[in-house]
This record gives sequence, C-alpha cells and structure tokens, in this order.
Amino acid sequence: MAIQRTFSIIKPDATKRNLTGAIAAKFEVAGLRIVASKRIQMTLAQAETFYGVHSERPFFGELCEFMISEPIVVQVLEGEDAIAKNREVMGATNPADADEGTIRKEFALSIGENSVHGSDAPETAAEEIAFFFSGLELVG
Ligand code: CMP
Repeated sequence: MAIQRTFSIIKPDATKRNLTGAIAAKFEVAGLRIVASKRIQMTLAQAETFYGVHSERPFFGELCEFMISEPIVVQVLEGEDAIAKNREVMGATNPADADEGTIRKEFALSIGENSVHGSDAPETAAEEIAFFFSGLELVG
C-alpha cells in the first residue's frame, strides 16, 4: 500500500474538553503524520454541505448543529494506508462498540459527540481535503 492522505476533524466535544493534543498524539503514535492543521468554526451552510450525504437521516439537523457549536480542528493526515489506519485509530462510530485504546473508546461521549471524523475512502478523502484546504496550504 502506498502513502495516502486522509482528512480528519477533531469535533466540538473534543476541542471543548481541550483534547486536541491528546487526539493528535494518537495519530502520531499510530504513524500518521499531521501535514496540515487548522482550528476553525464552521457555518451552518458549510456543515450542511459537508454532511450532505446524510441529509435524509433523522439525526442530520442535530449533527449539523453540533458541528457548529464550538470550533473544530481540521487536519490532513499522511501515512502508509492512512485512510484505513485512521479509521482503526478512531474506532467504531458508536463509542459503545469501539475497541480499547481507540480515540472514540477513550474520549467519545456518544454516537453523535464522537470526538473525531475521518474519511472513509480515497474519493471522499480527496473531496473532504479540498473542501477545507487550498493547494497552498498543502505542502508536498
Ligand atoms: P462522522 O464520521 O462524522 O460521520 C457522520 C456522523 O453522524 C457520525 O460521525 C456520527 O457522529 C453521526 N451519527 C451517526 N449516527 C448517528 C445517530 N444515530 N445519532 C446522532 N449522530 C449520529
């Protein structure tokens, strides 16, 4: 497997509890390099666009309101098999199902307030990186 890039969000529940560094350390220990990072606060329109694929789901409104409730940290992670590795480090979407040692097992509060987002495939990783970062912010 070649070197890949994936997109990550440290979500409002985690930034609010001052867990940005603890979560970043989990990525680095797993061999993922943080090659771009910034703290932002999304608008409702941005959150609705970013999570557009979930617009028909019953939790869509709650998800978007949560994602704009506090600043988030958006990051690009790079490494061998980065997309799968990041999903492994994050753990299952619902922290009740997450393995020991994963970010969601250690830090997530609920399925909604689950501390991190990570891309699920190469196409979505490319789209999500481009949604938040310009080419100038991404060094080679
Ligand atoms: P994320 O990886 O950011 O992608 C979509 C998000 O929707 C997911 O993480 C969860 O935080 C959220 N989500 C999924 N299922 C539910 C649910 N049943 N209730 C609330 N939020 C959910």
